[in-house]
Amino acid sequence: MDKIVVQGGSPLSGSIPIAGAKNACLALMPATLLSEEPLTLTNAPRLSDIRTMTTLLQSLGAEVSLMQDGKVLALSSHGADNPVADYEIVRKMRASNLVLGPLLARHGEAVVSLPGGCAIGARPMDIHVAAMEALGAKVDLRDGYLHASAPGGLKGAVVELRFASVGATENTVMAATLAKGTTVLKNAAREPEIVDLVRCLRAMGAQIEGEGTATITIQGVDRLHGATHKVVADRIELGTYMLAPAIAGGEVELLGGDLDLLGAFCEKLDEAGISVTPTAHGIKVARKNGRVSAVDVVTEIFPGFPTDLQAQMMALLCTADGVSVLEEKIFENRFMHAPELTRMGANIEVHGGTATVTGVPFLKGAPVMATDLRASVSLILAGLAAEGETVVNRVYHLDRGYERVEDKLRACGAKIERVSE
Ligand code: EPZ
Repeated sequence: MDKIVVQGGSPLSGSIPIAGAKNACLALMPATLLSEEPLTLTNAPRLSDIRTMTTLLQSLGAEVSLMQDGKVLALSSHGADNPVADYEIVRKMRASNLVLGPLLARHGEAVVSLPGGCAIGARPMDIHVAAMEALGAKVDLRDGYLHASAPGGLKGAVVELRFASVGATENTVMAATLAKGTTVLKNAAREPEIVDLVRCLRAMGAQIEGEGTATITIQGVDRLHGATHKVVADRIELGTYMLAPAIAGGEVELLGGDLDLLGAFCEKLDEAGISVTPTAHGIKVARKNGRVSAVDVVTEIFPGFPTDLQAQMMALLCTADGVSVLEEKIFENRFMHAPELTRMGANIEVHGGTATVTGVPFLKGAPVMATDLRASVSLILAGLAAEGETVVNRVYHLDRGYERVEDKLRACGAKIERVSE
């Protein structure tokens, strides 16, 4: 297994290109199942999660070709006749559940393995199931699989999510595009990845309004045609790399970054003493006056502070002036980076969904363990400013969501390398 080795203490200078959004691409790819015609996705990120989704779609009978070194995905579901998403693939990535809605819309049936829990939480599927049932499907849980059927096709309905689940919103919108009649989706998630999915579906001929708000209206159509769509920039990669100069010092320009994608995150950076300046090509980030101030953070659905940036923000606050309180309200177990940061000398107390971080003057490099995707990168960020060497093990977590993080940071002066064991 590879590991990442960081020698701390080098302020950063330079620019980092931001890739296409993993969490947009993982919802866009299953949309191919909604049409018999080719779907082309450009600006796709080169990540292991994308390769997992490729394998899953191919197992369903779709053709997926990665071109231009994986930046362009050519998808076609002309021959896709298998409605069964197998456990062996689904267990590797929760986002596999995003084939549920498209399979139901295409075949009138779907058999999708439950993804199982993951490091950050149990991650049930009840909201997805309730939404599919509201659209007229019958859903049974048998042998660890969701068996969904709608032999006469899905029917438009008023669907209200008990919680604004991102994945359930995406599954429902995709399923409703081919349902008979109109669907009004209430308490929908508002994340930019959903806006991007709707833009692609609209290019395929879907009739949808309200994306980015809590109510999305979908007028079902008989069929969708092919399209070419550019994947939106990855706001979580963007936020992650904005924290690199905030933690290590120096100044970095994030190329392709868009402030509109970041919601409350930028306000919190400003409060902490970090300047964020739009430029002709993206966003420039640096500390305002050398010090970082403690801030309180509560993770919320968009446009609140993103849960996917909580671990990275904690890495910044470990050496801030004062005490910061971070409340994780989206997932039940998303502080596993805390004990690893503590190994580096951080002062963090975790009680349930709340972590209290008392700033210390500096962290010390140490061998640490990556436990999940965003925790992994928070440890690398912490290592950028820590005294001495930090070794982050199990970086396969990292490669799920970040393209060659060591290359991007090294290009800005970080002393970082990947070591294969
Ligand atoms: C998406 O996951 C993202 N993944 C996650 O990013 C992100 O953290 C999450 O949204 C929240 O923003 C992708 O887009 C591929 P949810 P998703 O359904 O859709 C509970 C990353 O690091 N819930 O909005 O699975 C759930 O357990 C990943 O890139 C139910 O209880 O998130 C969680 O506590 C991690 N029942 C909360 O809702 C359900 O049926 C939010 O989940 C569905 C969800």
